[in-house]
Amino acid sequence: MKLPVYLYGHPVLRRISEPVTEDYPDLTQLLEAMYATMYESEGVGLAAPQIGRNDRIVVIDASPVGDIYPECAGRKLTLINPEIEILDGPEVSRAEGCLSLPGLSENVKRVEHIRLSWLDESFQPHTEEISGFLARIVQHECDHLEGKLYIDHISPIRKQLIKSKLANIISGKTYCDYPVKYAPKTRK
Ligand code: NI
Repeated sequence: MKLPVYLYGHPVLRRISEPVTEDYPDLTQLLEAMYATMYESEGVGLAAPQIGRNDRIVVIDASPVGDIYPECAGRKLTLINPEIEILDGPEVSRAEGCLSLPGLSENVKRVEHIRLSWLDESFQPHTEEISGFLARIVQHECDHLEGKLYIDHISPIRKQLIKSKLANIISGKTYCDYPVKYAPKTRK
């Protein structure tokens, strides 16, 4: 089952998500639906707030960019309650996009090396040092769990330049070729 992707302006994207416990109802079905939604919209990652749930769940399949970024080849990660530790190293600026911000792409500065701890779909713990573009995808998705979006990391000038595009997403004027859920209309 594919789910609509909640777009910029929807309050669910700005809330801090809750930790997931082992009695989480229908987790298998939810993860299947999240993967199906991500593949349908040609994303490499999707966080639960983007399908309207403030729960600490992320799915990643970085294999489509594996030709460009070898660290991404064949990497599929189901992250429950992920935690990131920033490791030493420079920050690198690269273009990012987000399924909740259709039609936009901006350069974002992020660290290249992280230590990621998470639970898999069977609630088994894992820890791994992750680098490069895969570390970027993980940081982007984990930001969603804190109610953050990549545009929060760009300069005020860049944000001013994309203001009208952001306004169009909020008001439902942006075309999208995957199912979406727009922000609720606010009265003025
Ligand atoms: Ni995103």
